[in-house]
Amino acid sequence: MQLSDLKIIVTGAGKGMGAHFATRLFEAGAQVCAGDIDEAAMAAHLPAGVHKRRLDVSQEADVVEFVQWANREMAGLNGLVNNAGIIADGLLVKKDRVTGEVQRFPTAKWHALLGINLTGAMWMVREVVATMVETDQKPGVIVNMSSIARHGNRGQSNYVASKAAIAANTVTWSREFAAFGVRVCCVAPGMVATPMTAGMNQKALEAFVATIPVGRVGQPEDLWLAVKFCLECDYFNGRTIDVDGGIAF
Ligand SMILES: NC(=O)c1ccc[n+]([C@@H]2O[C@H](COP(=O)([O-])OP(=O)(O)OC[C@H]3O[C@@H](n4cnc5c(N)ncnc54)[C@H](O)[C@@H]3O)[C@@H](O)[C@H]2O)c1
Repeated sequence: MQLSDLKIIVTGAGKGMGAHFATRLFEAGAQVCAGDIDEAAMAAHLPAGVHKRRLDVSQEADVVEFVQWANREMAGLNGLVNNAGIIADGLLVKKDRVTGEVQRFPTAKWHALLGINLTGAMWMVREVVATMVETDQKPGVIVNMSSIARHGNRGQSNYVASKAAIAANTVTWSREFAAFGVRVCCVAPGMVATPMTAGMNQKALEAFVATIPVGRVGQPEDLWLAVKFCLECDYFNGRTIDVDGGIAF
């Protein structure tokens, strides 16, 4: 699909990669509806011509209303960059070195992350595709955001579960939605310089970068090139592109 033909939603568009993708899409001539819990960030980081509305993807009613609003605002809908996501790290079981106390990963923290990264992402896909089918719009394209963490990563059980599920369901949904003319693709970043990773300890960051063959962390533009490919290549479907500098883990 041509970028200029897109009427597309970008979630988590206030900061980081989402803000970059929404801006690049707008510059390419797409109509863009941006959603984020952080309205101030959207106002600060997105061009005036991008439609903006508060969205919490972990709230089903919010997702339903947002998608209906986007369909009205753009007089149609044929794309989604399903980008909103958080991290909430911690070991599943941890023993305090000093006291010997055994700590359990909090159940609420598990559900909070899955509510955004998995259930929220699923609601976005469901509502976008249902709206397209109800209003007889096709073709369409969805780009999900997974992560290299989907292969497993210490201290990230909840994140790993969400990102593995999103990559696997990219296959599921590409098969389910073929009849509706909707492709479903996925991008799996390595470490990217965004607010999500900005707080990382400098020593840990240097050790991590040492394992990346290209010798640096990714920039949002590196990931945009993959998102753009997913959107434009009508033969790309049901697959996940790793954009991680060739990291071996
Ligand atoms: N940065 C990385 O290294 C990296 C690596 C792999 C995958 N990812 C994934 O890429 C995506 C974007 O990551 P990023 O680094 O740009 O993140 P970020 O934290 O920099 O930005 C995420 C945006 O999502 C918004 N958001 C959070 N919860 C939300 C909710 N419930 N509803 C709507 N918006 C919400 C935040 O306000 C923020 O503006 C995420 O899905 C993330 O898991 C990031």
